[in-house]
Amino acid sequence: MIREFRSILIAAGLFAALTGFASDGPGRAAVPPGGGLPSIAPVQASAPPYTPQQEYLFEIIKSRRTVRDFRPDPVPREHVMKILDMARSAPTSGNQQPWKFLVVQDRAKLDRLKVEAVSWFLEEYDKRMKPAPERLAGMRKQLPATMAKVLSAPVYVAVLTDSRSPYPPDCRYDGPLAAALLMIAARSLGYGTGFYTTYFPEERMRQFFGIPDRYNLVCFTPIGIPAEWPPAPPKKPLEDFVVFEKF
Ligand SMILES: Cc1cc2nc3c(=O)[nH]c(=O)nc-3n(C[C@H](O)[C@H](O)[C@H](O)COP(=O)(O)O)c2cc1C
Repeated sequence: MIREFRSILIAAGLFAALTGFASDGPGRAAVPPGGGLPSIAPVQASAPPYTPQQEYLFEIIKSRRTVRDFRPDPVPREHVMKILDMARSAPTSGNQQPWKFLVVQDRAKLDRLKVEAVSWFLEEYDKRMKPAPERLAGMRKQLPATMAKVLSAPVYVAVLTDSRSPYPPDCRYDGPLAAALLMIAARSLGYGTGFYTTYFPEERMRQFFGIPDRYNLVCFTPIGIPAEWPPAPPKKPLEDFVVFEKF
């Protein structure tokens, strides 16, 4: 038994020495340097220019959509955890990793949120826009149906950052970067997501979910199978964004 254990340890050490694949310590995932992927971008003179895996990744990124209506099919816990594991591989300022992911799956709670979110929105809309009474009445009538769709997914994640992290001002970058990877990972498993903000204001959400003051809300995102995949909204051409060397 002891001998067997020793040989496993020796084999593991040898493997680590040969491959550079080492565990970071107990409870931490062992990640091979470079993740086992090519360390340089190969320059290929002939078509096809990208491997099928590369094309697949590009397709996943391109086909991520903001989804606002979902099927009730459950999302397995392993998928939720895999998606959040991908989210937390985002870069962070000084490697501070300031996130907390609040996962909400309780349908009764989400149904209560539906009612609350409608009234939060109407109150804010009335205060800010000062709409004519008939416009406000129209909004009051239509919003519950919209909110029922927006909150129809089986899983939601409040992406939070910790203001007590070492570099709090940089949480404004670290938070959305994780949210973006979450959305890409979810898309690769066939799920729609959304960077919801307006319907779910930070202070109201803090109170509703009992989120401690130290955490800031980045976004509230659904994870679920879309009722249908929405068409891509118009996107500006690449050339509009890119300048080489100087303006
Ligand atoms: C900072 C930010 C705030 C957003 N807020 C909302 C929101 O409150 N509600 C919503 O439905 N979508 C929201 N979105 C999603 C955008 O509407 C969506 O990304 C955009 O229309 C492009 O569509 P696509 O994500 O399918 O490419 C937000 C996105 C970002 C980046």
